[in-house]
Amino acid sequence: MKRRITIAILITIIIAITMYCLPQERAERIMAFPKWKETYNLTKGVMESDAHNAYVEILLNKKAVDAYVEIKPVFPVGSEVFKPLYSDAEGKEFARLVIMVKMEEGYDSDNGDWWYGVYDESGTEMAYEGRIPECISCHAMAKETDYLFARSVMKKLNGIDTNEFFEYEPDDGEDY
Ligand code: HEC
Repeated sequence: MKRRITIAILITIIIAITMYCLPQERAERIMAFPKWKETYNLTKGVMESDAHNAYVEILLNKKAVDAYVEIKPVFPVGSEVFKPLYSDAEGKEFARLVIMVKMEEGYDSDNGDWWYGVYDESGTEMAYEGRIPECISCHAMAKETDYLFARSVMKKLNGIDTNEFFEYEPDDGEDY
């Protein structure tokens, strides 16, 4: 009898430990954005990028639209911003998809709690992700607008081509 109780207690402990560990494993799973093309297309067509040596579009999920258009200093948690890059001005040759997601406070407090990603066109195959130092160092120039270049992009969309940020060149010539 005693032995059965011991076994029962042991099983309970094992189940408890497993359940405690599971959500953490899930949190580490890589993000996927299979529906990024269905989000709001801000640029309504391809524009020349100031920074990424390419032609780009910018798409925003619902949470991000108002903050971007109104050039807000802080974006809501859960904001997702997509920038597909193309190597031609018509947007026919897809190069890659760069993504930013506003995470919960504490994810990366020194850098506005943004997650960065580089994906393929499907939005599911990840090449780089996380707190990518190269992305952060350049996006820090737009700290006042929560690390997004909303001000210069909105100006550009209104026909004012300031190119205010781009004397800056990535040192190693790598173009994200
Ligand atoms: C050399 C500077 C620079 C680097 C490095 C850089 N970006 Fe950007 N990024 C920009 C600029 C400038 C824009 C504004 C749109 C444009 O002109 O391309 C932008 C726009 C974006 C946008 C659209 C939202 C916005 O800010 O307006 C996303 C998403 C993005 N970048 C993701 C990334 C990711 C992910 C990386 C790293 C893999 C990265 N960027 C690296 C300069 C940079």
